[in-house]
Amino acid sequence: HDHLLGIEPLAPDDITTLLDLADQYAALNRRDVKRTDALTGLTQINMFFENSTRTQASFEIAGKRLGADVMNMAMQASSIKKGETLVDTAMTLNAMHPDLLVVRHPQSGAVDLLAQKVNCAVLNAGDGRHEHPTQALLDALTIRRAKGRLHRLNIAICGDIAHSRVARSNILLLGKMENRIRLIGPPTLMPSQIDQFGVEVYDDMARGLEGVDVVMMLRLQRERMDGGFIPSEREYYHRYGLDAEKLAHAKDDAIVMHPGPMNRGVEIDGELADDINRSVIQEQVEMGVAVRMAAMDLLARRLRARRGNAGNPKE
Ligand code: CP
Repeated sequence: HDHLLGIEPLAPDDITTLLDLADQYAALNRRDVKRTDALTGLTQINMFFENSTRTQASFEIAGKRLGADVMNMAMQASSIKKGETLVDTAMTLNAMHPDLLVVRHPQSGAVDLLAQKVNCAVLNAGDGRHEHPTQALLDALTIRRAKGRLHRLNIAICGDIAHSRVARSNILLLGKMENRIRLIGPPTLMPSQIDQFGVEVYDDMARGLEGVDVVMMLRLQRERMDGGFIPSEREYYHRYGLDAEKLAHAKDDAIVMHPGPMNRGVEIDGELADDINRSVIQEQVEMGVAVRMAAMDLLARRLRARRGNAGNPKE
């Protein structure tokens, strides 16, 4: 693969290869000296057209630990504000010969479009409601490390599924690895074409969580609820917010996950989120750096092989 645009085109073997390499980077990241030279000499540009804490910071740290020259475009201060289009902006940066472009954009499909225009590797850091592949990969690595496997698990994804690229990428990845997926949330926050996903759907947390191994919570994405149903936070927390009482329906050793940013007291109880016996939320963040290192390392190997074969470094 020349880009990482989504989970959809990946085979189970691709996912396993990436997670195995990420495990090695996770070990490196716990050492005092964290530098390697997999990306030495390469230029990585991060273009975030939407807010981000975890994804942007971890892509920057990942690139630096691999020895890349990393540049964060300040999109709020860029000429996008003067009317320049996404493609013109990307072509402008492309002319400076970057090797890796990391892109987050509010429109589904924007990152795919950009990847068709530039001649470097593009990584999707979240596009609209479409995909957030590195999030699903870091979630998969966290699950594999906690449960010792990534197949035949019962996994509940709870909350605002309809607006969530995280849910979409996770459903695709966990389905490819042959897990049983349950979606739990209000019917108004379920995607319209739910049948195509091969999942079970519940609108009751107690029933949906019965016997699951993994509980994945999602934020209410108010910024994407254009005019539709917006539940009150109190009512939502009462019915769908994860607390110890609802979690008791899951397996005794079920883990609690959240991609962040988290709204305490809306989709999850703050104490439960901080309970290191159940919650792996901080481990998810830690694995985010490792997974992004692995993804960029694999793309850079491919880039170098292709350029080597062409005999011309940039054509
Ligand atoms: N999980 C995630 O994508 O978080 P950020 O929006 O902070 O990057």
